[in-house]
Amino acid sequence: MKLKVFSLWLATITLFGACTKDESSGSEGLSVSFYIPDGFPQPVYTFQNNKITPAGFSLGRKLFYDPILSRDSTTSCGSCHQQFVAFANAGHALSHGVDNQLGNRNSPGLFNMAWFPNFMWDGGVNHLEVQPLAPITNPVEMDESISNVIFKLQRSDAYKSMFSAAFGTDSITVQLTMRAMAQFMGAMISADSRYDQYRAGKINLSASEMNGLQLFRTHCENCHKEPLLTDMLFRNNGLDSVFNKDAGRAVITHLPQDSGLFRVPSLRNVALTDPYMHDGRFISLSQVLDHYTSGIRQSATLDPLLLSSGIPLTSQDKTDIISFLNTLTDHKYINDARFKEVQ
Ligand code: HEC
Ligand code: HEC
Repeated sequence: MKLKVFSLWLATITLFGACTKDESSGSEGLSVSFYIPDGFPQPVYTFQNNKITPAGFSLGRKLFYDPILSRDSTTSCGSCHQQFVAFANAGHALSHGVDNQLGNRNSPGLFNMAWFPNFMWDGGVNHLEVQPLAPITNPVEMDESISNVIFKLQRSDAYKSMFSAAFGTDSITVQLTMRAMAQFMGAMISADSRYDQYRAGKINLSASEMNGLQLFRTHCENCHKEPLLTDMLFRNNGLDSVFNKDAGRAVITHLPQDSGLFRVPSLRNVALTDPYMHDGRFISLSQVLDHYTSGIRQSATLDPLLLSSGIPLTSQDKTDIISFLNTLTDHKYINDARFKEVQ
């Protein structure tokens, strides 16, 4: 794939052995870059004020995997976002935080975050650099105050030297902590699935996958828009007729017309990120397709692109759509050593 590498501040940074000072960071020999994969739109987060560097990325990675960010040092970001399932939470419909408390939403996969104008199923967070504050301070996730996180980091010599290497100062602040995490998360690009290779003209898809892609473009792509496989909008895909339990977007906006709307999830890596929907109610892609053919509930906010009579699909159609959805798995991403925890 031809990659449009940003020039200037986004230039690929490859430092071999340049971090002699900073052995704990794991940044030696690390090659991290931000690039726009072929056909992707311009990103929302541009790193303009937060140049990505190996030392900043490594610091962000260490923070991502460090349970010190939680009240009782049991839970890291990586506890609920696991690389082998594209950073979703394997086997959990709802997330489990400190004291094994149950949240009310399913942990989404994490990738291509630089392209997201807002985060969370309800869009409650609108900037990559503040995103980590939400799970850190959420009482059923990490239940910690950000000031106490900073206090704990300041007591650590390892973190002092990593902040120095990344930002030229060992005075550890909320802003620098968030920036390091944004460097790590912003660099998490997933764009090398078989679907991407097909789009780049490198491989052919099977007849079933091709038919699935065709059906997907007819029935699904309006919302799960290529190439990110989401249009980033909030929509009601007919899961429920009343929204007492979780009003979705309306939790943030308090507007009745937003009741039951959730941000359209990207379907990249979807074969790995089960269970599905904001509350993890469906355990398989075939249950998801049954929902679209025969489970859509009428309500005042049902998306106009969907009818309560459902999307007409035969069982062969469903099989083919699932074959296509399986081409969205990016094995390179889930095995990329740069995103793994460094011991
Ligand atoms: C207890 C489990 C848990 C922990 C710990 C956790 N997350 Fe999450 N994460 C979730 C859940 C659940 C959601 C969806 C929340 C929602 O929509 O209300 C989420 C959503 C996100 C999103 C938004 C993704 C999207 O598509 O909008 C990002 C980014 C994210 N988490 C990053 C982090 C980072 C960084 C940390 C550590 C500071 C972290 N998470 C810790 C469970 C967790
Ligand atoms: C009207 C817009 C719309 C259309 C059309 C649509 N979807 Fe969705 N889809 C959504 C929304 C919104 C969600 C999230 C709903 C929620 O969790 O409350 C979703 C969720 C999903 C999920 C769960 C993903 C996850 O990570 O949990 C899958 C899989 C999915 N859709 C596949 C499809 C397929 C396949 C089609 C076509 C047959 C389709 N969708 C058509 C809007 C749409």
